Amino acid sequence: MKISDSAKLAILHGLVDGDVAEFGISTGVSWEVLAATIAACETSKNTRGLPPKTLYGFDSFRGMPEAKLPEDTESPMVQRGIWRPGSCISPGKEAIRSIAIKYLPVERVQLYKGWFSETLYTTPPLLKFCCVHIDCDFYESTAQVLEYLFETDRLSDGCIVLFDDFLESRGSKKLGQRRAWIECVEKYAPDFTDLGYYGTASWRCIIHRD
Ligand SMILES: C[S@@+](CC[C@H](N)C(=O)[O-])C[C@H]1O[C@@H](n2cnc3c(N)ncnc32)[C@H](O)[C@@H]1O
Repeated sequence: MKISDSAKLAILHGLVDGDVAEFGISTGVSWEVLAATIAACETSKNTRGLPPKTLYGFDSFRGMPEAKLPEDTESPMVQRGIWRPGSCISPGKEAIRSIAIKYLPVERVQLYKGWFSETLYTTPPLLKFCCVHIDCDFYESTAQVLEYLFETDRLSDGCIVLFDDFLESRGSKKLGQRRAWIECVEKYAPDFTDLGYYGTASWRCIIHRD
């Protein structure tokens, strides 16, 4: 599973500073993988005394928002009604917390409930990430997450960034997560290594800061 490999690469092999985050949790399938991977890294005899990682999660817990921008409304996933308001609904914040605390102490599970536009900028000012899983499907949501991550300087050197839906809308450079990343690269010119495509429609990279 590439999500687990990526988190391990950052935590155990890269010794990358900062915590782990997921943007888009829904029923918590990948959330559980991330929680289990953090715990597995910590019980590994190769942990090398790293500070424990906290798992941060962000979701509306009301399902998908309405698609408003052409970069989303023109997606075949929206036009066919697969991504529609309220789809991907989550069982709720406490149910999602209970998944993660099977693996991690409760104080190391931080959940932010609400639309990204309301929650992202309420995180602690010095928060950094070593691995982020962006699984919120839409261009608009992904652009909000990327703007937050780059504007507020959240990504450590060596951070792995995973985009679950990068190629979802025919791989179009004008739609969805791929469009949001293209615009982020134009605006912030991050130094990164392409780690390639994984899963069905997903892509990941590693961020360099020096
Ligand atoms: C495809 S689902 C996530 C799937 C999940 N990672 C899993 O493995 O089951 C997308 C999630 O993104 C959330 N989402 C999308 N846009 C959002 C936004 N602007 N603010 C908050 N949550 C958002 C939705 O609520 C939904 O739970």
